[in-house]
Amino acid sequence: MELKVFSNPAEVARAAAQHFVNLTPKSVALSGGSTPRVLYELLAHPGEPFRDQIGWDTIDFFFTDERHVPPAHPDSNYRMANEALLSRVPVPKNNVHRIPSENLVAAEAAVDYEYDVRTFFNTDSPAFDLVLLGLGEDGHTASLFPGSEALHESERLVVAPWVEKLNSYRITLTLPVLNNSKSVVFLVTGASKAEILREVIKTESEPKPDLYPAQAIRPKRGKLLWLVDKAAAAALPATLQTPAPTTTC
Ligand code: 6PG
Repeated sequence: MELKVFSNPAEVARAAAQHFVNLTPKSVALSGGSTPRVLYELLAHPGEPFRDQIGWDTIDFFFTDERHVPPAHPDSNYRMANEALLSRVPVPKNNVHRIPSENLVAAEAAVDYEYDVRTFFNTDSPAFDLVLLGLGEDGHTASLFPGSEALHESERLVVAPWVEKLNSYRITLTLPVLNNSKSVVFLVTGASKAEILREVIKTESEPKPDLYPAQAIRPKRGKLLWLVDKAAAAALPATLQTPAPTTTC
């Protein structure tokens, strides 16, 4: 696991964008929430160096998870990624694999999305070239929440857990596919994440995935990279806080 600290969210996004360009991924699972929006807008920005270095028509975009809402809903991860990135770059429509979260039965949406993932990779163990993840203040990542049965799923690639604290279903990739990825990048910014980031990193050698699901992300063969800003790193040991030179990825 590698952790790099940057001055602010814009520099985290710049480092992640450079990692994206260097990796030339063909299959990407996009994270939701608010943190990755800065990265998505940077990748799409015509005035920035990243957009023109990316072969958009060679990439298939998936999602790590989705809220159980229609695609036009303000909470939709697809809506955020489409507004910030996918509608602004020349990705072929068929290369965007949206989770069909408008399905009134979340479990059916999970089955359909799993079929899409398996069909695309055409193998029993799909491996994304790049997975982007965030970290919730409770230690969740994707829609794998503390204490969730979804954390113990060993066969299915996509499940639809009920999330009590949110009083809603979510649809999420599971650990078997997340940990089969070739590169996993956590993007964590803001002072509100300092406490949980310290807990997750401090005990990552003795992981407690039911308490901190983000610790269950341990790619079998792939690279795990944490790109964080100073505010989120504020509670880490001083040795981990040395800001990385900009765009070192
Ligand atoms: C989601 C995300 C979720 C997110 C974290 C962090 O659907 O919300 O997949 O795992 O990455 O909750 O969210 P923020 O980036 O908004 O802090």
